[in-house]
Amino acid sequence: MKNILTAPWMVEMIRTVTNMYDHGWDERNGGNVSLLLEESQVNDYVDGAVLREIPTGFSCPELDGKYFLVTGTGKYFKNVQYAPEINLGLVRLTDGGETAQLLWGFADGGEFTSAFPAHMMPRQHAARLKIDLQNRVVMHCHPANLLAMTYVHMLDEKQFTRTLWQMCTECIVVFPDGVNVLPWMLCGTNEIGEATAEKMRTARLVVWAQHGIYGAGKDLDETFGLIETAEKAAEIYMKIAHLPLVNTITDDQMHQLEAHFGVKAREGYLS
Ligand code: 13P
Ligand code: ZN
Repeated sequence: MKNILTAPWMVEMIRTVTNMYDHGWDERNGGNVSLLLEESQVNDYVDGAVLREIPTGFSCPELDGKYFLVTGTGKYFKNVQYAPEINLGLVRLTDGGETAQLLWGFADGGEFTSAFPAHMMPRQHAARLKIDLQNRVVMHCHPANLLAMTYVHMLDEKQFTRTLWQMCTECIVVFPDGVNVLPWMLCGTNEIGEATAEKMRTARLVVWAQHGIYGAGKDLDETFGLIETAEKAAEIYMKIAHLPLVNTITDDQMHQLEAHFGVKAREGYLS
């Protein structure tokens, strides 16, 4: 058996959550990340023995048998690099997704993030609809400028997206589907999980008003980059929102970006 702390996906997870903390996106226990793994990726590192079973509180039959590396509830991203076996866990879903079998981690008796429904339900949804199965990563955090924006900008998804696109030239290239927005909702519930899953049908970024953001992507780097780009745009917005606007990126220029980079902006979002 190889040392699990040397697995490339473990190294990448630890680097990513550390980087998220360093960006100021994850104060205290803020934020959570889950990474879908194949059996062939984990085989060399765990023997399959089940340490504990943890009920998930919902069913997701399409994810039965899937493996996830996931952050723990109440755990601080700041500490993951120093004690990964306490702050992270490797689970396999069983019983139609109603039970998570712990194969490694959560060594102090901990459990996966309270946002587990918001991590699994979008995947369940995607699997059922046979879309986006490439989205191995779901990432949640509390970046200050996106959060700030939800206090001063209207939450209409088209307007919110257009404002972000206008803040940095490459935003429309990085997230041509834009961002969807949920109004304030109670976090940690199946309801916000279902609402996030619904919103992820049409965009890989979902803002939770007055709370933070969810991103989904094919790997940790790509998902981090998606949130990083949206947060940079929100930062520019918060720097200029109170100043007279003299210039912007026009819709005509956005169309040039679409053509040059081979992306298609969300239908009806550009004139
Ligand atoms: P967890 O500590 O349960 O992951 O919750 C953090 C968070 O950001 C909830 O919105
Ligand atoms: Zn949160």
